[in-house]
Amino acid sequence: MTLNAKLLLLLLGCLVISGQVAAENSTGRKVFGQWCSACHMDSPFAPGTIQLKQTHGPEYAVIQNRADLTDAFIRLLVRQGRAGMPKFRRTEISDAELDSLVKYLVKSQ
Ligand code: HEC
Repeated sequence: MTLNAKLLLLLLGCLVISGQVAAENSTGRKVFGQWCSACHMDSPFAPGTIQLKQTHGPEYAVIQNRADLTDAFIRLLVRQGRAGMPKFRRTEISDAELDSLVKYLVKSQ
């Protein structure tokens, strides 16, 4: 194989991988929009955002903007719920959808 052909394959590989990452994020964004944003969007009327602002402070209010949320913490909360937040069953948010949601919300990944 020539060097050009190898470079072309490498480039194609990168495109495929970046396409998969983008698809993962768009699923995560969709799941967030369907199940979380009503309570967690950046709005003075969203109950989750209001409560987190009061209990944690304004910099923690909008979960989409946070860099401190971890994979395990989000999974625990989504499956078990917490004061004012319902838990979500696998029939509502599947494990695969939860994976995408976590990738979308955890900024360090
Ligand atoms: C019915 C409203 C509601 C929905 C829907 C909801 N939440 Fe929440 N969420 C809350 C409330 C209220 C809190 C604050 C609980 C508290 O103060 O302990 C919260 C807290 C959180 C926290 C904790 C933040 C922290 O720093 O403690 C995370 C993470 C979170 N929600 C993620 C989600 C995700 C992901 C979804 C969608 C799958 C979701 N929530 C759906 C109401 C909601």
